[in-house]
Amino acid sequence: MSKQKCVLAYSGGMDSTISVVWIREQYDMDVVTLTLDLGGGPELEGVEDRAYRAGASQSLVWDVKDEFVSEYVFRGLKAGAMYEDVYPLSTALGRPLMAKKLVEAAQKVGASAVAHGCTGKGNDQVRFDAGIKTLAAHGEPLRIVAPAREWGMTRDEEKAYAARAGLPLREVGEDQRVYSIDRNLWGQAIEGEDLEDIWATPPEDAYSWTVPVHRTPSEPEEVEIAFECGSPVALNGESLGGVTLIDRLNAIAGSHGVGRVDHLENRLVGIKSREVYETPAAVVLHAALRALETAVLTREQQRIKWQLAQTYSDLVYDGRWFSQLRENLDAFTDSAMRYATGEVRVRLHKGSAVVAGRRSPYSLYDFGLATYSTQDAFQHDSATGFIDIYSLPARTQSRTQTMREAR
Ligand code: ARG
Repeated sequence: MSKQKCVLAYSGGMDSTISVVWIREQYDMDVVTLTLDLGGGPELEGVEDRAYRAGASQSLVWDVKDEFVSEYVFRGLKAGAMYEDVYPLSTALGRPLMAKKLVEAAQKVGASAVAHGCTGKGNDQVRFDAGIKTLAAHGEPLRIVAPAREWGMTRDEEKAYAARAGLPLREVGEDQRVYSIDRNLWGQAIEGEDLEDIWATPPEDAYSWTVPVHRTPSEPEEVEIAFECGSPVALNGESLGGVTLIDRLNAIAGSHGVGRVDHLENRLVGIKSREVYETPAAVVLHAALRALETAVLTREQQRIKWQLAQTYSDLVYDGRWFSQLRENLDAFTDSAMRYATGEVRVRLHKGSAVVAGRRSPYSLYDFGLATYSTQDAFQHDSATGFIDIYSLPARTQSRTQTMREAR
């Protein structure tokens, strides 16, 4: 009888390479590695080789960048998903897609288990497990293996384990910091090392996508972003696919030091953790879309949308992507974004991204109504009647209650 198979989400890093060996040993299963390209680097070159050398029976490498952008990133952007006001949910938006692909791959190769490299302390295990369980709720039960959550090895024990298994380790200098980094094209999350002291300024070597402001250009640069129904479609007048647009904007905004976030974050599992993010394109696009919304939405639409954005962010953060509520909120977002078409200019300078102009064929801004110049078209005398009725309840209450008490 042939062995059972396990599909492992494989980045090519040390932990996931050790996991190949570990799953074969502990579970006596064949390991099929699945490497997913969500953009943002690192280079996936040689990843298949590493998987086979660690003992994988099969190695799959799938480019899912387009799907990531159209089905996850732009949905999050349109919904205004910014966790605790600062984190554009780059990692959190990637996990449900990875869970979905793990389930798909398991079906494809006939595996009875899937595995991911999350520890027992983070949000990512929740996103993976909840996503996998929800998607595999009908059909054969799919076992979930999480080596790093199960093996209880310290960093040094992991190294010893890798050495025993004959796995090549990347040489790390004595004084070199090794951060825990998760990245995709929407941003990178940097944790660990000196960042665990929340009083300490993040060391410069934590950053790799953004230039420190003392080395950014002294002149500001403006970028123009075009949106169609809330999705970015062009950069500086050039129509671009989502992946290219985000890549280019990451480079431009990053060169001005835009997109650094230092956040003490509330994890779903109850821990507070220091998270440093680099997310230049996301910062610019969120600011730009919000500015466009101020032009095309009424005040009530804006308020409701911005309130729901928080619900949406928590939902994504908490691993509830595959829920009807998320779909309901997307339906609201799509409806609210029907006229979010137009352009926004954003000025990048010394770490900041500031909206400098917005326009839309559906803009609700009426120059004639707003102007204080001679072209003023507003009916000034209609204001007094409006205020009379508007203040009626307050005046009545004042007369019959508050003033009577004072007497
Ligand atoms: N704190 C972020 C989140 O929960 C990022 C997690 C990054 N994960 C990692 N393995 N470094 O979405």
